[in-house]
Amino acid sequence: MAVGIAEFELKKYRFPNSALRHLMIKIYSIRLIFRRLLLFLEPKPILTSRDINITLTKNLEAGAAKFSSQGWVFLEDIFPDDVHKIIVQEWPSFYHFHPVRNILKSYDSHFISPDQTSKKYPIIEEIKQYLSSDEFSQRLNGFAPSSANGRKIKNVGFSRAGYKSSCVNHLDSVSTSKLNKNESINFIFFVKGTGGSRSGGTCIYHDKNGEILFEPTNTTNSCLIYRSDNLYHGFPPMNFGKFRWMISGHAQVPSN
Ligand SMILES: [Fe+2]
Repeated sequence: MAVGIAEFELKKYRFPNSALRHLMIKIYSIRLIFRRLLLFLEPKPILTSRDINITLTKNLEAGAAKFSSQGWVFLEDIFPDDVHKIIVQEWPSFYHFHPVRNILKSYDSHFISPDQTSKKYPIIEEIKQYLSSDEFSQRLNGFAPSSANGRKIKNVGFSRAGYKSSCVNHLDSVSTSKLNKNESINFIFFVKGTGGSRSGGTCIYHDKNGEILFEPTNTTNSCLIYRSDNLYHGFPPMNFGKFRWMISGHAQVPSN
């Protein structure tokens, strides 16, 4: 959930601003029916045989010092080549995703039928398992040491974005959490994208006034890691012809 949004940012998203996006949201139900139909008609994909273990490259550890000093870091080549290749190959088509529903986070996110998608594309489940594994938790402790052991990414999000998609500049609501305020770390894995400016790379802003501190321009096999409790983030409307596929999650101390 987003907090700390400036009033002038909210205005940008009030109708008649962002009219195309408002229209898309209005016809959400129709788009959902259409996507459900395509899902129903989709044949079972023929997956290439494979034997891979999901992991991240050592570039994670290489970015630890920068993360420690500035609270965020951008890493390239985050998945080993063979892993990245399979993620791209098995990335579900657009109709697996819910159409845009929220003007402040206007991109396709969450699977319409998560079980069906995971069954067809096992990479989805494998990524979730890795990010909630003890192995990842240990690497996270090495990357960002903390007395709070056991931080994991419980909920992994998959999304796709294109022309005019955007995310309002905000802080995450974890900024108000007693347990996770200083422990929560956001991971944004860019799987594949056109790249360049205004191509859906999550930006780090100086503050709520929206001056960009950093904008990722390589959105293929890269990763932005940042503290979402005290760093403003989001991305401005994407330019025509741009797209990006993303995996995201908050590494947090489990609350139970
Ligand atoms: Fe956020």
